[in-house]
Amino acid sequence: MKKYSDKVNKIVYGGDYNPEQWPEEIWAEDMRLFKQAGIDIVTLNVFSWAAIQPSEEVYDFEKLDRIMDMVRDNGLKVCLATSTGAHPAWMARRHPDILRVDFEGRKRKFGDRHNSCPNSPTYRTYAPKLAGMLAKRYRGYENIVAWHISNEFGGECYCENCERAFRLWLKEKYGTLEELNRVWNTAFWGHTFYDWEEIVLPNMLSEHFRYDRTTFQGITLDYKRFNSDSILDCFRLEYDAVKAVTPEIPVTTNLMGFYPVLDYQKWGKYMDVVSWDNYPAVDAKPAEIAMAHDLMRGVGGGRPFLLMEQSPSVSNWHDYCALKRPGVMRLWSWQAVAHGADSVMFFQMRRSIGACEKYHSAVIDHVGTGDTRVFREIAALGKELEKLGDATLGASVEARAAIYFDWDNWWALIHTAGPTTDLDYKEQILDYYRALYDLNIPVDFVGTEDDLSGYRLLVAPVLYMVKEGYDEKIRRFVAEGGIFVTTFFSGIVDEHDLVVTGGYPGRLRGILGIWVEEIDALPRDKENSFIYNGSRYPARLLCDLLHTEGAEALASYQEDFYAGMPAVTVHTFGKGKAYYVAARSDAEFYNQFLQDVCKDDCGIQPLLEQTRGVEAVLRKNEKGSYLFLLNHNDAFSRVWLEDGCTDMLSGEYIHGGREIKLAPKDVRILKKE
Ligand code: GLA
Ligand code: ZN
Repeated sequence: MKKYSDKVNKIVYGGDYNPEQWPEEIWAEDMRLFKQAGIDIVTLNVFSWAAIQPSEEVYDFEKLDRIMDMVRDNGLKVCLATSTGAHPAWMARRHPDILRVDFEGRKRKFGDRHNSCPNSPTYRTYAPKLAGMLAKRYRGYENIVAWHISNEFGGECYCENCERAFRLWLKEKYGTLEELNRVWNTAFWGHTFYDWEEIVLPNMLSEHFRYDRTTFQGITLDYKRFNSDSILDCFRLEYDAVKAVTPEIPVTTNLMGFYPVLDYQKWGKYMDVVSWDNYPAVDAKPAEIAMAHDLMRGVGGGRPFLLMEQSPSVSNWHDYCALKRPGVMRLWSWQAVAHGADSVMFFQMRRSIGACEKYHSAVIDHVGTGDTRVFREIAALGKELEKLGDATLGASVEARAAIYFDWDNWWALIHTAGPTTDLDYKEQILDYYRALYDLNIPVDFVGTEDDLSGYRLLVAPVLYMVKEGYDEKIRRFVAEGGIFVTTFFSGIVDEHDLVVTGGYPGRLRGILGIWVEEIDALPRDKENSFIYNGSRYPARLLCDLLHTEGAEALASYQEDFYAGMPAVTVHTFGKGKAYYVAARSDAEFYNQFLQDVCKDDCGIQPLLEQTRGVEAVLRKNEKGSYLFLLNHNDAFSRVWLEDGCTDMLSGEYIHGGREIKLAPKDVRILKKE
């Protein structure tokens, strides 16, 4: 199979195009406007199942044939979707097994999308069948650069087919009921199971009293894994169907960044190329967007990914559909490229006239011409992408710092039942990520199975669940000279959410050289504090009360009955060091602390001196090293350039040893000498 980057010769530019929703007279105008905007790829056929298969026996590809021919004749590349993201109404009526049962236990009727039960025999038959037929029909179209399976897979189902499949999944995983009873700790509240048939799905009819509140974490955790696996199976069925016919075309499905329902680290292993949809909240900070890109790159094993969707301006589903200010679409597009994207794509190409996305922005707005601010900005970016050509294609982002992120840990923290309802794993990750981001230190996201040998620094915020063998991996990493940072509420449970007895932080105790005796949860309006390097910082959320066992205290609590107990510790272990931050603090602390750790222990050089609001990212390939400078500020910013470089967008050579000025929201791509 060819790599995605071998199939294209520049960063492809385009997005979701739904000509089937429009009269054919309009299509030619679309082609003309696409050319004007420098669009060279369209994602087709995302929601066409009902159109292609109007009934059980009938398939009708004629319209899609015409669309495929038209876009090919116009020199456009295609990301071809399998259209299984929403099933036809007739199918739901005729085969109700395809309809999901929701968390409250209600059988859904036809409607919405993402609506198929992942264990429905009907869905598992018809979806891959259609994918295979599409592959056979369009295999000769050289302009197809990727398969797009379904659309934003997600959600959960609690139907009887899923329940039966869950029992099989459990049998496969645990073998015996004894083992199952052990890992779920069913002796608690007399839940012992004597027959597999007694096991039911955990929802509002059974173990839950709220979506995030369950009486049995073990059952809920396994359901999360099972549901993610079930949906992954559906992806894989379609994957196999298209691969059997077109083995050379890379296959993807559009992910959603920090999406809690699916274990993307597992999914990434089955995708030829990762793609994702970037829809930041109206008030999202640049670091938060960068973090999601880095997570998605990590899910794809560090390889470049595709930016499958972003909005040209507003997203209709936000409470307040704020416009993307001039320059922001361009800035965020380049930010995606800086973090590893090899495409810039939008939802959607032409703004629809009816249903819930009629107020979602598009390349071509309701006015129907190219004479809009948004279109002009899109066309200008199209020119820049053309100019950059293939320079950055396939380039990697090299990081010496890694953040550990794990979906099982996330699920366990969401459903843990104590010690605080305010703990949000993603926020904890962001605390540390943002500090590294502000320091202009590149970060990779690693999962449990990823190799650590290339890293100097491993940060694992709230490593609550330490999976079998992961402590050993950390032990080796630190013993061989790595620097490890973890926080409060770590090392508490194993992969079944069973507490590791013998003192917190369980399997990490020896590495960290501490014993956590108690954990204090602080309400939002309360805080403690600690002094680190002469400055006072807040201690919030959770405060671990700990004793050192070989570690050295770098800071101690200042208030309450545990004043004087360590709040930050470091333990020399083998050739490396292991840090423990016993409470949540604030951005100033994380900045200072990680700056010290990166400089003094890791020897990691920032890509650029800290300049507030200016992001620096480096991509490298065999053609060169490209420094992206992104000015998120609304004001001019100045950046000191040490070495000479070529500005890839203006073509101009910039001599080193001088300051350059970046306009508000401006971007520079500088090819290093
Ligand atoms: C998602 C979907 C698209 C569209 C956009 C709107 O990302 O994949 O089909 O609904 O949201 O923002
Ligand atoms: Zn189901």
